[in-house]
Amino acid sequence: MLNKNFFTKNRKKLQDKLENNSIVFVYSGMEIPQESNVNLFFPNSNYYYLTGLDEPDQLLVLLKDQDGILNEFLFIPQKNPNLEKWHGYKMSIEDAKDKTDIDNIFYVNDKDEILPKLFKENPTTYIDESLQIYEKDWINGLKEFTNEFKNIDPIIGELRLIKEAEEIEEIRQAGKITGEAILEVMKSLKPDEFEYVPASLFEYQVKKRGAQDLSFPTIAASGKNGVILHYVKNNNKINDGDLILFDLGAKLNGYCADVSRTFPVNGKFTKTQLKFYKALLKTQKELIKEYKRGVSLRYLQELTKKHLEKNLKEQGIVIPKSGIDEWYYHSIGHSLGIDTHDNSNRDLILENGMIITCEPGVYSKEDNIGIRIEDDILINDNNPIVLTDGIPKEINDIYKYMNQVEE
Ligand code: GLY
Ligand code: MN
Ligand code: MN
Repeated sequence: MLNKNFFTKNRKKLQDKLENNSIVFVYSGMEIPQESNVNLFFPNSNYYYLTGLDEPDQLLVLLKDQDGILNEFLFIPQKNPNLEKWHGYKMSIEDAKDKTDIDNIFYVNDKDEILPKLFKENPTTYIDESLQIYEKDWINGLKEFTNEFKNIDPIIGELRLIKEAEEIEEIRQAGKITGEAILEVMKSLKPDEFEYVPASLFEYQVKKRGAQDLSFPTIAASGKNGVILHYVKNNNKINDGDLILFDLGAKLNGYCADVSRTFPVNGKFTKTQLKFYKALLKTQKELIKEYKRGVSLRYLQELTKKHLEKNLKEQGIVIPKSGIDEWYYHSIGHSLGIDTHDNSNRDLILENGMIITCEPGVYSKEDNIGIRIEDDILINDNNPIVLTDGIPKEINDIYKYMNQVEE
């Protein structure tokens, strides 16, 4: 479990990246009103990274003064007992102090008195543009002080790329829970049910094991749906003889696992399915070995195509005339953390402490085949560590867990 020292350390790391006389505003996010009045709220990941808090309408202000000293301020909404009857308890100033060790905590109403003092030295002003915060009146109010806003998101994003031991542990645990839930799904998988049934079972199983959330809406794509990369409708009947592609993950204490597995619905691959599956599994295992410090995601992407083509040919499969891009049309991986897609881009160079997915896929509409196999890899010099190890992907293991005879 992450404790408040972890989040305090993150603010100190950010302090080190800022020039003297600068001020940073990070907003926790607003609730999304629903017609039912039951509002949705997704906390801003940068805010969570710096505070460990996940309530709406809070504002973190970090002032690094002329001498390089960090002054931390937190503004939270005024408590409203009437609203709490509808939307639940909101933290008090004492709660916020206790949870963060930030000394200067105020109600938002006090900002008019406090903000002018913080802007006295005309600091360089950073805001978090990852949210559409300009909409908010009280952020608009900052324009009284300066018109020049820099985006803090790339700076926090850089910090979030390299994981501390406690973050690695959260993702490892999230992966373990994901794996256990996948086993339950495998055991119960059968034709003629709708895709949302195994998807719901997965959600139940991860929550039963203590994960508060899913990393993203589960993809349970059977048969032809497997070629749609972000298929989330999950409303088709699962046909006997088809494959089903699962892309899913548990989110534990704010940190995501992201795993894909593909299984034969009735527990037995057809000959064609088996050829594609063997080629892709071999590709994934070959690629994981290449997840080394100093290597770029762009290089790994090109390597994936080469290996996939070689391995498909080895299985006697004829590659489309237009090339392998016809059957493999996404990236090999991305950084993983508080967000499933945690500040990565195709030019990323792997560093120790990064957690990057390895998720090759092969998608042939004509063959009714969509296969993706995805694991979460910790970069560790030349010795990548698979954090989602042990989740069945070998053919014999799939047969074993789906109660079929061995190949
Ligand atoms: N589940 C989204 C992804 O694998 O990137
Ligand atoms: Mn995924
Ligand atoms: Mn992924």
